[in-house]
Amino acid sequence: MTKPQAAAKEILKSLLRPFYRMGRKFIFEKLPPLYREGTRYDLIADEIKKVKPGVIVEIGTCHGNNAERMIRTALWSNDVDYYGFDLFEEMARETFVKETSIWPAPMALVESRLKSIRLRGRTPKVHLFKGDTTRTLKAAVQRIGRADFIFIDGGHSYETVRADWENSERLCGPDTVVLIDDYPNWGVGRLVDEIDRGRWKVEIIEPGDYFYHSSPPLNCKLARVTVKR
Ligand SMILES: C[S@@+](CC[C@H](N)C(=O)[O-])C[C@H]1O[C@@H](n2cnc3c(N)ncnc32)[C@H](O)[C@@H]1O
Repeated sequence: MTKPQAAAKEILKSLLRPFYRMGRKFIFEKLPPLYREGTRYDLIADEIKKVKPGVIVEIGTCHGNNAERMIRTALWSNDVDYYGFDLFEEMARETFVKETSIWPAPMALVESRLKSIRLRGRTPKVHLFKGDTTRTLKAAVQRIGRADFIFIDGGHSYETVRADWENSERLCGPDTVVLIDDYPNWGVGRLVDEIDRGRWKVEIIEPGDYFYHSSPPLNCKLARVTVKR
């Protein structure tokens, strides 16, 4: 391509950019049913687009699927520190049953997956913590300081999810958004119902997702928790 051709191409691109942005805005804001799958994971992405979190905490990183999606969504607009907690290789059969869990991947594998993300010239800072969150999250609270977005999706026993919530509370500022997955199942329902409505605004996001492997189907919803104003 000659120099004048390259210059003409750049001019054309800059002339077309506003139309591209308008079209994109229209598709994302006015036509949600056309591109959304409607799962609660899409709601997490929507929330991240609004919050634009610089610090994300996920309790229950597992294979890093949701982590990757959250990180990519956040990187679209800003740099991000991701703090992920999981038992990883410390998961045992007994805990797996007690926590109604999914079997996690090895930590090094998840770490290299998340650290290799590049988007719009940005790379995330990834901090992973292996072990029981009743211990690891508690120990990391001071190091993290303040989180903008917290996703609680680790152990599902009442004791574990209560500890996860209590430690997450300490990471919350006035604008932090906390999403707690799997309401109203296992210990999550009791924990969410017990959250102090005088201090916290708790919204249950309906209708949630249905899983038909059991009868009646399992219905998992997100609880959205923010500081009450
Ligand atoms: C449902 S999976 C998380 C899925 C992940 N958030 C996603 O959407 O991709 C729950 C995870 O919590 C972890 N977990 C369960 N109990 C835990 C505990 N007490 N401490 C730390 N991690 C725990 C499991 O190892 C599992 O990876």
